[in-house]
Amino acid sequence: MNRAVLQKEFNKDEIDILKNDTKILSSFFETKNDGSLVYVLENLGRLENGCSKEPLLKLLDNKNENIRLLAIKNLAKIGDISLLKIFFKFAQKDESTEVRRESVSAIGRLRNEKAIPILIELLLDKDPKVVMQAIRGLLVFSKNSVVRQELKKIINHPNELIKEVINKEINGVNYSSGDTGKHDEFPEFLKNLVVLGDVMETLNYVPNESVHLTFTSPPYYNAKDYSIYQSYEEYLNFLEKVFKEVHRVTKEGRFFVLNTSPIIIPRISRAHSSKRYPIPYDIHPILVKMGWEFIDDIVWVKPEASVKNRNAGFLQHRKPLGYKPNAVSEMIMVYRKKTDKLIDWNISQYNWDKVKKSKVVDKYETTNIWRIGPTFDKVHSAVFPIELCNKVIKYYSFVDDLIFDPFAGSGTLGLAAVNLDRYFFLVEKEPKYVNRMKEDLIRGNSLFSSKKNQPNFVDVKNFILLTKKEKI
Ligand SMILES: C[S@@+](CC[C@H](N)C(=O)[O-])C[C@H]1O[C@@H](n2cnc3c(N)ncnc32)[C@H](O)[C@@H]1O
Repeated sequence: MNRAVLQKEFNKDEIDILKNDTKILSSFFETKNDGSLVYVLENLGRLENGCSKEPLLKLLDNKNENIRLLAIKNLAKIGDISLLKIFFKFAQKDESTEVRRESVSAIGRLRNEKAIPILIELLLDKDPKVVMQAIRGLLVFSKNSVVRQELKKIINHPNELIKEVINKEINGVNYSSGDTGKHDEFPEFLKNLVVLGDVMETLNYVPNESVHLTFTSPPYYNAKDYSIYQSYEEYLNFLEKVFKEVHRVTKEGRFFVLNTSPIIIPRISRAHSSKRYPIPYDIHPILVKMGWEFIDDIVWVKPEASVKNRNAGFLQHRKPLGYKPNAVSEMIMVYRKKTDKLIDWNISQYNWDKVKKSKVVDKYETTNIWRIGPTFDKVHSAVFPIELCNKVIKYYSFVDDLIFDPFAGSGTLGLAAVNLDRYFFLVEKEPKYVNRMKEDLIRGNSLFSSKKNQPNFVDVKNFILLTKKEKI
């Protein structure tokens, strides 16, 4: 029976009659099929008067684990301490882990001190989710010294989420930065600034927690002409240093969006193979280790006609192992600076007017597949399409925020930032690309036809002077 039919057959009045009469409910549970039972169990609502206790208890022998789970869930609503033993039995013995977890949750929901020894015993369960539920139940009594002591004992639990919650709740460890500056503000000298110079040299002088959002596409190892690294290891080490600095200069709980993709270094001759480097997969663990929390993986998909054709050979020979798909995707990896604070905390740092102005009111991407054509530029070989920058800025920043690109290239991110009423801070080491940005400015070619401040172009020496002036 489908849901619409069930909904018609068991409306709210019907369900009220069932749950307020033990006999009627019992005979219903005994005679109806699993589909009807599940539907009614999911819609029983509040159960204070205890009429449903006996019929629900009988369902605990049901073969269908979903029905046992829903029976436990409903029994928990009755709030009857005499059910503690039954919940414990199912928490330990049920063959379904889902039913065991629900039973521990039911014990916690009793919020009764008698449950403490049982919850403590469940801290030793082999299923981390059962342990997590037991912790939840025990945290209600977090002032109780025995409870605290027992929770402390599992600080070295192998599960990372358990370790994190114990550290936070019992040991008071948090990731907060302690920065006292206002969250929606940043140093004035970084406003619409372009630094011509090396990113590491520049970042040395950027104050902690200045940036609201970083969106960047780093060099593609040695795949393009603008960078040369002795080895892949040297390349990854360089990115690690830069992204550690990006972490330092990022405000609490704010986002870092990274555009990378696997690259291919062509073979030197027919006797050798070409080599693929899985850059996103190698960078990810480095980022997580330094304190970036993984949030999302967005896939930027380009039209097939715009990318290099790799499958001409396969098209002819059709032999397994020789298959080479055309690479139409790049990764847009989304991270957040690790913190104990929820996203709501970040939002609450802005006044209502700014939140309102920043709302994404027009059409937005509903999935993690973003179809955007590439942009080709006469000077730079790998520029961001402005549409991509627009989306990232709108989804991950507020108006008047500072948007940073440590590998700015042609500065497309700056253009998008200004157009969306944000400020930019860009670093680029190649004079030809910075000149490209200036050219755009002189031609009044929209790039910086800024309604707000005009952009400031400096080299590293002058940037250092700026940072010193700011301190005076
Ligand atoms: C993939 S491109 C970025 C393109 C950019 N997203 C755009 O829209 O034009 C990477 C850029 O990083 C720059 N770069 C590489 N190493 C750098 C360094 N050590 N300091 C500053 N910029 C660097 C390169 O010159 C190149 O322009």
